[in-house]
Amino acid sequence: MDTALKALFDAADAAAQNAYAPYSHFAVGAAIRGASGVVFSGCNVENAAYPVGSCAEAGAIAMMVAAGETRIAEIAIVGVKSNPCYPCGACRQRIFEFSEGSTRVHLRDSVKGSVITHSMDELLPHAFGPRNLA
Ligand code: THU
Repeated sequence: MDTALKALFDAADAAAQNAYAPYSHFAVGAAIRGASGVVFSGCNVENAAYPVGSCAEAGAIAMMVAAGETRIAEIAIVGVKSNPCYPCGACRQRIFEFSEGSTRVHLRDSVKGSVITHSMDELLPHAFGPRNLA
């Protein structure tokens, strides 16, 4: 794994350690490298009113947008208990909003001890995105 990708996974791991997941006990971390090169991370934040909880990817995207960036160069997603931790359907749509079809999504393969990389085209084929509304 190259150093930039390791830094992205390190940021996702660090965020996952702060996940607030007292209901599912399923901690998730996500780290985005924005087009500028800056890394933004997030964790899942659950709520006693279950549907109000938010995913790690949503948190990382919010940090990126609040910092003035709107393009995802690549994203890493980790689960503390289970890997690979694929992004849920809603998060695939959230990521796509700020991606290209070729944007890379990195997951950890805990069986092989390696990284699985998918493109957004693979994870969300025939996506509906900003271009559809242009
Ligand atoms: N979760 C994420 O944070 N990201 C995903 O893409 C999948 C699911 C969280 C939501 C919830 O807090 C927990 O994992 C169990 O579903």
